[in-house]
Amino acid sequence: MNSSSSPAGDTILDPAKLPRHVAIIMDGNGRWARQRLLNRIKGHEKGAETVRTIVRTSRELGIGILTLYAFSTENWQRPKTEIAALMELLNRFLISERSEMMENNIRLNAIGQIDRLPRAVRLTLQQTMDLTRDKDGMLLNLALSYGARDEITMMVQTLAQKAITGEIDAGDITPEVISEHLYTRHMPDPDLLIRTSGEMRISNFLLWQIAYTEIYITNTLWPDFGKEEYIRILLDFQQRERRFGKV
Ligand code: FPP
Repeated sequence: MNSSSSPAGDTILDPAKLPRHVAIIMDGNGRWARQRLLNRIKGHEKGAETVRTIVRTSRELGIGILTLYAFSTENWQRPKTEIAALMELLNRFLISERSEMMENNIRLNAIGQIDRLPRAVRLTLQQTMDLTRDKDGMLLNLALSYGARDEITMMVQTLAQKAITGEIDAGDITPEVISEHLYTRHMPDPDLLIRTSGEMRISNFLLWQIAYTEIYITNTLWPDFGKEEYIRILLDFQQRERRFGKV
């Protein structure tokens, strides 16, 4: 499917003006659960269902790259039980979605400090990435134990080391060289960043990469987010004039 009707059915997404790369800060699982007097974990479980819907919709629409902020470096400070539940959920998701990723030509990639993840998750992740290695319909990029300051620090350390050993000249460090030393190397920067649940902040996500990204913040909590609203946001994106600092 290459075009889509809006919920009102009168506006059509222009396939030529789709964002190549959509990044999403999935926020509000805890509040969704609290509103229903449920345990926070129930919110994450419902949130995982939204992940499924949004991955499927992105693929149907023809989005090239979808990056989801699934676990931040700061999230390690949450209670142990919540971390364990999130890791278990992630593990289950990586297994249950494998066949659909294969069928729908989706390649899985992870960005972040993967070595901090529990061994079982690392193994499942690696297996799923290996299985989908040749898929080129869409790249699903999961940010796991990800923090942009950590990513930038790692990049500076690598470049400093290369300058010390003479592999590069300090003067040859350009924005392009920097981009190629981040987790997102070989990927275009996000065109659109969506954040759910209304918070007006970036929360250490893709700080370098979002220099010219269009931002859309919705009050909808992540578990309530769905295909219709996603398409409305994409329509809004298509109406924006992107000037990249020019007139
Ligand atoms: C933010 O909600 C969400 C997270 C910290 C984790 C995101 C995880 C999922 C959507 C589910 C599992 C992911 C995959 C890829 C299967 P919050 O807990 O910060 O919500 P709150 O701000 O309302 O407390």
